[in-house]
Amino acid sequence: MKLKIAVLPGDGIGPEISKQGVAVLDAVAKRFGHHFEYRYGLIGAAAIRACGNAYPPETAALCEASDAVFFSAVGDLEFDNNPQSPVRPEQGLLAIRKGLGLYANIRPIQIFKDLIHLSPLKRELLEQADFVCIRELTGGMYFGEKFRDANKAYDTNVYTRDEIGRILKVGFEYALKRRRHLTVVDKANILETSRLWRSIAQETEAQYPEVKVDYMYVDNAAMRMIQEPAFFDVIVTENTFGDILTDEASVISGSMGLLPSASIGTGTPLFEPVHGSWPQGAGKNIADPMAQILSGAMLLEHFGLNAEGQAVRDAVDAAMNQYVRTPEIQEQGRRPYGTDEVGQWIAEAVLKG
Ligand code: IPM
Ligand code: MN
Repeated sequence: MKLKIAVLPGDGIGPEISKQGVAVLDAVAKRFGHHFEYRYGLIGAAAIRACGNAYPPETAALCEASDAVFFSAVGDLEFDNNPQSPVRPEQGLLAIRKGLGLYANIRPIQIFKDLIHLSPLKRELLEQADFVCIRELTGGMYFGEKFRDANKAYDTNVYTRDEIGRILKVGFEYALKRRRHLTVVDKANILETSRLWRSIAQETEAQYPEVKVDYMYVDNAAMRMIQEPAFFDVIVTENTFGDILTDEASVISGSMGLLPSASIGTGTPLFEPVHGSWPQGAGKNIADPMAQILSGAMLLEHFGLNAEGQAVRDAVDAAMNQYVRTPEIQEQGRRPYGTDEVGQWIAEAVLKG
């Protein structure tokens, strides 16, 4: 298969993990006889410094002309510490999501059995845990009308029937492919938007009689996720709730450095790690490239390259199993591996098969 891949390394640890993610995709191409062509673009603080825009038109054009976007991270301390800054690296991420119409963010929460001891939760709670969060990504408070002066500020939470209907459909379809259990997370006891979500979800239920649906308030879902993570199969929720719940969900697995995600919609799909740019870790060769590498597996699977995706997943498992790990997931007394060593090891394992 031929694929044109737009690579956006971004900020912080982004460039280091991006390099390893690409090395692993290259190994896949070599072993399975595919042709992947990479073109690089600027986004986030890197783009602001180069041209004053977090998502420059050249990057937008590159992404639109590609089959997939392989994204790493945006965010930079210089901007975090300055709330007055008119431009922010995160705007680049919001602009690319909106620009490419990526309304569904798929975040699978997978437990790595070799790392269960790193999770803040007890082992017995985790053994059966395996769920997917589907987060609406181009609506809600992130994109609604905003206002701020010295004494007052607001962000509006707007959702239309179309926006709600299409993301719910993604949720129901995922549930069909999995254990057929969908949890619709909202705040329908308080919010009008949530009440509309709930009524559209109830209408949609009729089209999916095989799917068992339950409705849960977001505060309750936040609690349930750590009390009984194995309860969940597929969660579907709005943008802001999904942002918060997926950070919570990510620590369940033991390390945020492990979770990949896919954002899909009307335009070029984008694949990115759930973790951020970790500026404090940049340039030290200590960041875990596994989430980026697993985002590559999701990219491959998106194009139906399932054996290829599995080869990547197996190589990541093998690395973990053989203690080829970066510092934050390495066992005490064992040598921590560098970002590049982990990436190269996984790439070689993919090549050897
Ligand atoms: C995420 C991130 C982003 C978000 C930021 C960096 C804009 O936290 O992908 O979850 O809030 O959506
Ligand atoms: Mn987030």
